[in-house]
Amino acid sequence: MQHIHKIIAFSLLLLALISSCSEEDKAPSSIEAKIEQPTNPNDSELALLMRAMFDEAQQIKHQVANERPVKFHVNHSNILTASATEPEKAASDEFKAFANGYLESVKNMQSASPTQMVSLYDNMVENCMSCHRAICPGPLTRIKKLQ
Ligand code: HEC
Repeated sequence: MQHIHKIIAFSLLLLALISSCSEEDKAPSSIEAKIEQPTNPNDSELALLMRAMFDEAQQIKHQVANERPVKFHVNHSNILTASATEPEKAASDEFKAFANGYLESVKNMQSASPTQMVSLYDNMVENCMSCHRAICPGPLTRIKKLQ
C-alpha cells in the first residue's frame, strides 16, 4: 500500500514537471526579448500556438504604442482545437468560455478604430490573464510583460 502511494505521488510530480502551466517562469528581463525556448517534439500544439500569440501580442503592443496599424497573423481560432499538454484542461467548459472571451477581444481589435486600440489591447491582455489565472498560472509573469 505504502508503495502505491509513493508511485502515485511520483507520477503526479512528473506530470507537474512536464506541464507548461506549472513550469517556473524563466521570463526574459527585457520586454523586447522573444521567448527564447527551443521548440522540442513534446511541445503541444496549444503550447506552440501560445508562444506565437505571445510574440504577436508583443508586436501589437509596439504597433499600438506607435499608433501604427495593428497586424494579426496568428490563427487564433485554433485555440479551440489545438491539442494541449493536459488535454482535460482544454476540454473543460471553463477553458472554452475563457477561449471564446479571448477570441471576442481579438475580434474587437480587428474591427476597431485607432482611438479605441489602447483600451482594446489592454482588454485582450486581460483575457489572456483571466484564463491563465484560472487554469494555467505558470506563464503569468511573462504575460504581465505585455501590459
Ligand atoms: C482559454 C485559456 C487561455 C487563454 C485565453 C490564453 N492561454 Fe496561454 N495557455 C493556456 C494553456 C492551457 C496553456 C498550456 C498549453 C499546453 O502546454 O498545452 C497555455 C500556455 C501558454 C504559454 C506557455 C507556452 C509554452 O512555452 O509552453 C504562454 C507564454 C501563454 N500561454 C501566453 C498566453 C498569451 C500571451 C495569451 C493571450 C494573447 C494567452 N496565453 C491566452 C491557456 C490560455
